[in-house]
Amino acid sequence: MTALLDDYDAADDSRKSYDVAIAALREKLMSFRRETIGDATLWLGDCREILPLLPKVDAVVTDPPYGINFSHDGGGGGIWARRNESRIVGDDQAFDPALLLAFDDVITWGANHYAHRLPKSAGWLIWDKKLGLKEDNFSDCEIAWHMNGTRARVFRRLWNGLLAHENGERRLHIMQKPIDLMEWCLGFLPDAQTILDPFMGSGTTGVACAKLGRKFIGIEIEPKYFDIACKRIDEAYRQPRLFKDEAPKAKQEALL
Ligand SMILES: C[S@@+](CC[C@H](N)C(=O)[O-])C[C@H]1O[C@@H](n2cnc3c(N)ncnc32)[C@H](O)[C@@H]1O
Repeated sequence: MTALLDDYDAADDSRKSYDVAIAALREKLMSFRRETIGDATLWLGDCREILPLLPKVDAVVTDPPYGINFSHDGGGGGIWARRNESRIVGDDQAFDPALLLAFDDVITWGANHYAHRLPKSAGWLIWDKKLGLKEDNFSDCEIAWHMNGTRARVFRRLWNGLLAHENGERRLHIMQKPIDLMEWCLGFLPDAQTILDPFMGSGTTGVACAKLGRKFIGIEIEPKYFDIACKRIDEAYRQPRLFKDEAPKAKQEALL
């Protein structure tokens, strides 16, 4: 027994335990599909599994499932129902923002649906998407909570029915946000170099980051939206920009 204790080196033991833990994390992370496009790293999978494995980011800008079981088909078919895309994964359960609250700064949309689970903040962001159009069955505005915000602010951008598109391009996700809305959000985070969107959908936050020269980490659980996000972000990097000369291609890289 004494001999065993004499041989015991606590520092060496903890170093080995640390190495084993890091190797296990790396192996788990490697089991998820990943694409690197310019300064964006996109993960396909459940953010609840992937987030604990990722390095620290400066801020989160996201648009999670709100927990409202939203359906765009109105029960009568319609384009989203025909495309079998009228429901969002996770939208059938109340959204718990706890996983977002560990970050240093967060902007999260749909926050009026889970405001009772958020800490107090004066920083609420309103997107007026009807600009005074006649009321219909959909909301006139959308609301985001900004963890470190100090004022309520309004962004005015029409996004309604046939007018809900950007540069004439059709929407690819039932809950797609305008790119300039997400650019506006990034303006509230001037010092955040790396932005995370753990519910990236069609990748709108990533497109805004590519346009503004921010690093981006995105996670999406649905393969079809993951592929759309890869394509949109790749296209954003191909546009002439102020920040980079070349449009990098999607590639697989070593982890960590
Ligand atoms: C409200 S949508 C985001 C739409 C996005 N803002 C856009 O412009 O396309 C939320 C997205 O989160 C995804 N999602 C739901 N649960 C998830 C989870 N646990 N991990 C990763 N993604 C998830 C859904 O598939 C959906 O695409």
